[in-house]
Amino acid sequence: MHTSAWQAVQEEIAATRPLHLRELFAQDPRRADKMTVRAAGWTLDYSKHRVTPTLLQRLVALAEAADLRRWTEAMFTGEAINRTEQRAVLHTALRNPPDQPVQVDGQDVMPEVHAVLDKMAVFADQVRKGEWRGQTGKNIRYVVNIGIGGSDLGPAMACEALRPYSKRALKLLFVSNIDGTHLAEVLRQVKPAQTLFIVASKTFTTQETMTNARSARAWLVASLGEAAVARHFVAVSTSTAEVDKFGIDTANMFGFWDWVGGRYSLPSAIGLPVMLAIGPKHFRRMLAGYHAMDVHFRTTPYERNVPVLLALLGILYHNGYGAESLAVLPYDQYLARLPAYLQQLDMESNGKAVDRQGQAVVGTTGPIVWGEAGTNGQHSFYQLIHQGTHLIPCDFIGFCHSQNPLGDHHDKLMANFFAQTEALAFGKTAEQCRAEGVPESLVPYRTFEGNRPTSSLLADELTPTTFGALMAMYEQKVFTQGIIWDVFSFDQWGVQLGKQLADKILPELTSPEAPVGQHDASTNALIRRYRKSRGRDV
Ligand code: F6P
Repeated sequence: MHTSAWQAVQEEIAATRPLHLRELFAQDPRRADKMTVRAAGWTLDYSKHRVTPTLLQRLVALAEAADLRRWTEAMFTGEAINRTEQRAVLHTALRNPPDQPVQVDGQDVMPEVHAVLDKMAVFADQVRKGEWRGQTGKNIRYVVNIGIGGSDLGPAMACEALRPYSKRALKLLFVSNIDGTHLAEVLRQVKPAQTLFIVASKTFTTQETMTNARSARAWLVASLGEAAVARHFVAVSTSTAEVDKFGIDTANMFGFWDWVGGRYSLPSAIGLPVMLAIGPKHFRRMLAGYHAMDVHFRTTPYERNVPVLLALLGILYHNGYGAESLAVLPYDQYLARLPAYLQQLDMESNGKAVDRQGQAVVGTTGPIVWGEAGTNGQHSFYQLIHQGTHLIPCDFIGFCHSQNPLGDHHDKLMANFFAQTEALAFGKTAEQCRAEGVPESLVPYRTFEGNRPTSSLLADELTPTTFGALMAMYEQKVFTQGIIWDVFSFDQWGVQLGKQLADKILPELTSPEAPVGQHDASTNALIRRYRKSRGRDV
C-alpha cells in the first residue's frame, strides 16, 4: 500500500479509535444522511462504520495515491493489466452497449460480444419455446450445467436469485463437484430424452468438469445412443479445439474470450443457464444493471462511489483494525448462494501475498468472506458477531419489496435486518441492563459493547437489473482493493499446486502395484490406508 497515504489513514484511525458509534451519531444528527449514497438502484448507508469525514478523506486519498483512476481506465480500455498471464481484463465489455467500442489489440470486441449474446438468445428462445427438441422429439425440461468455480458458482447463484423471473417448467440443475454423488443425484432427477447438458469450462480441460461431462455423456448415450449427443450437449468455452476434441459439435458452442476471468464470467456465455431460465430480455436487463454500476464506478467521485467506499471500508478494518473476515448477509432467500459466489470472486482474486513488483506484500490482503441468508444466520453465528472477541464487518443486503408478499413475512424479515444493524452499532450498555432490572451478576453477560460496523445495502426489489448492479458493485470493490493492496487480482496461481499433486497421486491410488512412497510420511500413509480399504494392497 502507498506508505504515506496509509500512514495518514493510520494516524486518523488512532485518533478516532476511542470514539464509539454512539458518540459519532450523537455528534452529528445528519450523519446518516451524509453517509448515504446511491448507485444503479442501490442505496448504501455506511454511517454505521467507524469513520469520520477526515478518515474518509484520507481513505479516498489512499485510493488516489494507488492510482486507482489510471488502473480503472486501463481495465476498461483493454490494457493487459493481468500481467502474469499477459491478458486484458475486460468483463466490463460483456455488458457494454454495442455502440461503444472497446479495443483489444487494436480490434473492437463489441461486435463479437453481441454476436455471442444474439446466438445465446436464439438458442434460449428455441429451448424455452420447445422448438429445440431432444433426440426422441421431446421438448427440453431439464438443463444440467456441468462446470466448476466461475463456470458454476455465478450461474447457479444467479438462477436461484432470479427464480421469480424464470420459466418454472424448465428445471435448472448444477453439477460441479467431482464427487460422483453430485452427478448421480442430479441424474436421478432428470429424464435423458428431455435433458440438455451445458458443459461450461473456460479452458475445457478442468478435471472435475471433464470427468462429470464424460460420465453424463455416457449416461445419455446408454439410453439414447451416440447420435443424441448433438441434441443434448452444448458447450460454453474459450477453446473451440478442446470442445471439438471432447465431441461436442462446435456449432453448439457459445464462446467467450481469454480476457474474461472465470470468476467474472457470469455476464458472458457462462450465463447461458441464466438466460435459459429467465429469457433473453431479462438477461439483457441484468447486463444493463451491471453496466449502470460500471458507469457509476468509472465516473463518480470516490466520496460517493459505492464500490470504492465498500473497498475503502474493507481496507480500514482489514488493515487498520486487523479484522480478518467479512460477513455477507443477504436478507433475501433468493440470494442464499451469494456468499459462496463472493468467496470465489473475492478470495481467488485478492488472496495474494506477492505485490505487482514481485515482492512480499506489506500487511495482509483479501478478507475471508463468509455468510448466510438472514435470518438463518441470526440463529447460528450472530452471537459471535455481537459479543465475541473478533471484529467482523458485515454487509447487510435487503429489499423493500418481496417477490413473495406473504402476510407480514417481509416486514418481519426487514425488521430483523434493521434491528441487527442497530444492535451491532449501538449495543446495550450496563446501565441500560440495570435499568431493565437485570441482576447485577448477569449484567456483564447481557451487555452488548456495540460499535460493530455494518454496511446497509438496500434496493426496492430484487430484479435482474438490481441483481446485475449488485454483482458489478462487488466486482469493482474487489478490483479497487486489489489496486490498493498492489496485487494482481486476475490470476490464480495458488490453485495450481494442488491440481498438479492430485494428478500425480491419482495413479498411485489406482495402480495395481503398491506405489513407492513418493510423498511426505503423512501423505504416503494416507495413500496406503486408502488403498488398503479399497482392497488394492492386501
Ligand atoms: O479454481 C481455479 C479455476 O481456474 C477458477 O478460476 C475457474 O473459475 C475454475 O477453475 C474453472 O475453470 P474452467 O472454467 O476453465 O473449467
